[in-house]
Amino acid sequence: MCGIIGIVGVEPVAGRLIDSLRRLEYRGYDSAGVAALVDGRIERRRAAGKLRNLDAVLAAEPLVATVGIGHTRWATHGAPTLANAHPHKAGRVAVVHNGIIENFAPLKAALIAQGRHFESQTDTEVVAHLIDRELASGKDPIGAFKAALDQITGAYALAVLVEGEDSLVMGARRGSPLVVGYGAGEMFIGTDALALGLLTNRIAFLEDGDFVAIDHDTARIFDADSHAVERPMHIVSAASALVEKGNYRHFMEKEIHDQPDAVQHTLSAYVDPITGSVASPGVDFAAIDRLQIIACGTASYAGMIGRYLFERLAGLPTDVEIASEFRYREPALLPGALAMAVSQSGETADTLAALRWCKARGIATAALVNSHESTMAREADVMFPTHAGPEIGVASTKAFTAQVAALTALAIAAARQRGRIDAVEEARLVGILLEAPRLIADTIRGEDTISAVVHDIARARDVLYLGRGTMYPLALEGALKLKEISYIHAEGYAAGELKHGPIALVDEATPIIVIAPTDALFDKTASNMSEVIARGGRVIMITDAEGATHAPDGVSIVLVPACDPLIAPLVFAIPIQLIAYQVAVFKGADVDQPRNLAKSVTVE
Ligand code: F6R
Repeated sequence: MCGIIGIVGVEPVAGRLIDSLRRLEYRGYDSAGVAALVDGRIERRRAAGKLRNLDAVLAAEPLVATVGIGHTRWATHGAPTLANAHPHKAGRVAVVHNGIIENFAPLKAALIAQGRHFESQTDTEVVAHLIDRELASGKDPIGAFKAALDQITGAYALAVLVEGEDSLVMGARRGSPLVVGYGAGEMFIGTDALALGLLTNRIAFLEDGDFVAIDHDTARIFDADSHAVERPMHIVSAASALVEKGNYRHFMEKEIHDQPDAVQHTLSAYVDPITGSVASPGVDFAAIDRLQIIACGTASYAGMIGRYLFERLAGLPTDVEIASEFRYREPALLPGALAMAVSQSGETADTLAALRWCKARGIATAALVNSHESTMAREADVMFPTHAGPEIGVASTKAFTAQVAALTALAIAAARQRGRIDAVEEARLVGILLEAPRLIADTIRGEDTISAVVHDIARARDVLYLGRGTMYPLALEGALKLKEISYIHAEGYAAGELKHGPIALVDEATPIIVIAPTDALFDKTASNMSEVIARGGRVIMITDAEGATHAPDGVSIVLVPACDPLIAPLVFAIPIQLIAYQVAVFKGADVDQPRNLAKSVTVE
């Protein structure tokens, strides 16, 4: 999780970069750095550790310039050393980056084979080399940047400085946020409006896939297909900049789109992509004989997904229980167990009470929370953070996928600690997990395919969701999302449970949403679907391209990218959320503040 900033200004740039980075330090402070154009040449100042260290470096070696880029780092690829601090430089190019370049290893090998020398262990440095190589082949800066972007995969936001281009900073985003700021004869780019809060309050929010070139007066913005586009300018207040809706109609829509970033930032807290290993700071899962997950609502469904993974990967007996039941049930939980509260807010009354109940009985406790200063975070023995950022929409979206991402990472850590997998298998699973932000971004880009089924669902009085394995908790989550924001009655069932009652509800008026990735359970889910169709049911199937080829006639398909079953809950959560969101918008419901609900439930 990193923060980036770029300035094409008329005033001295170093202090302004530092001030902006200070507002981004909440995203990480493993190292910081700036690069600026000094007499047409790129000069860098960098320091490991907090921003004040960079301040000291700049005091000793000032940078006299008006155009520059800056970065505050949360280490993902490579230790938090000076050599790994951004900006990274290759030839005429300096780059700062937030995100993960998934294919950096083969790119780096190819660049080294061409005689290029690397100074760091980061994934970012390949981007600088790629752009520099394209420049050397005769392309102009925008052409070179675009050609480099075409070669990289992953989720990223970038800012780029080019030697010899005195009033140019370029930026791009895919999966990670980036905004453009408009000044008077000056232009800015940065991670969020808060970063630019001291520079301007006139902000345009880039869309996913956009790239941008700023000079002193203009921002030339291009979409993913390289078409010149305009992004509307908003006037934001610095105080609320962090929680602005940007170009989105609702916070829920924004937060659905935030998910590549939310998942990636969360994974960064657990996963080392270089060694392919996962950490579970504060907990040794080999020393635990039972895991008790306690949560409410959406967080409990994340916990259910966690149970499948902890049991399957790590062989760790795991229970999940709704906190309001757990706390009054007199559970027979013994020392040796770990009680893990899962909560976005860290304040939910029932979950907190359940956590305290465990603590009072000498049971080890952990809190997997998005609010790191919350009561649960402070009272649990160990805090496992999610890094979804502030979630404003009442219906939880990015907090959910961040919880699932953290639980998946922890299940891999547990599997290794308990001797169920070796380092090679751990690295393989980590590789799969790190693909999730990109696949989530790809799924969000396919959002339009959902519109076709929205009318059908919006007219229904009841909707059924079916899934097996980790898709069963997603079926429950889908039904909850639809209920809470569009007020349509919906139920989620394990697909195998259909014949034991719910099939009586099947008729032509009830859409049945079947969540069916191509996995070991696909055939079983497909035969449940056939049972529904045979009874006149209208099926909407959420599946990948392979699954779609097995869909019976008359089934509406919502297509998602193919993915490994390990990360299917993260990818398939997206259409589940988008369906609920689009149906609610279609019905004109108050998406961000649905009736009778509150964001943080601090009463029982
Ligand atoms: C549903 C939703 C709720 C919360 C639940 C727990 O969209 O947001 O079901 O998941 O109230 O809240 P936290 O996670 O704050 O404990």
